[in-house]
Amino acid sequence: MSTSKTLLSDITEIRRRARQHLEAGAVTQNYGGDVKEAVALLNHAVATEIVCVLRYKFHAVAAAGIASEAVKAEFAQHAKEEEEHLDLLAERINQLGGKPNLNPDGVGGRAASEYAEGENLIDMIKEDLVAERVGIETYRDMVRYFGERDPTTRVLLEKILAQEEEHANDMHDLLVTHEGRPMLQK
Ligand SMILES: [Fe+2]
Ligand SMILES: [Fe+2]
Repeated sequence: MSTSKTLLSDITEIRRRARQHLEAGAVTQNYGGDVKEAVALLNHAVATEIVCVLRYKFHAVAAAGIASEAVKAEFAQHAKEEEEHLDLLAERINQLGGKPNLNPDGVGGRAASEYAEGENLIDMIKEDLVAERVGIETYRDMVRYFGERDPTTRVLLEKILAQEEEHANDMHDLLVTHEGRPMLQK
């Protein structure tokens, strides 16, 4: 039997199953992952994004000194984008029938990144670069985990990962500019 015939031969059965378990919403019987584990992983990412939003917001306000205006704007832009990541993750958790954990209690403990204030502009940029690099590693691992089990979540995480890589590159560029010495290993 051709692949298309094999895939569609069960259509009566697929229709029957679709009518059952309506409470599961978007999660159908052929969901390849473990929903509980998926929600737990995504909630870790939620905590990471919350910490990133707060750290960038603090940096956007606290950055001071000559030539800090452009840096402040960059921090503020990143805070906004981290918040968008947070929204995307929370929506996906909801689609999977889970509950996004937005409880501020223990958020730092659940996050991969740290809330580091930094003593000065350079410190702040460095802390943000570190956090982005932590984010990149964790998202890349998650992309591999979700793989073919849950392509929708994987694609979402790939999108976030790409933006974290842009963020890291932005912070690296700022560091080179403001530290005044070449850090090029590219
Ligand atoms: Fe993010
Ligand atoms: Fe980021």
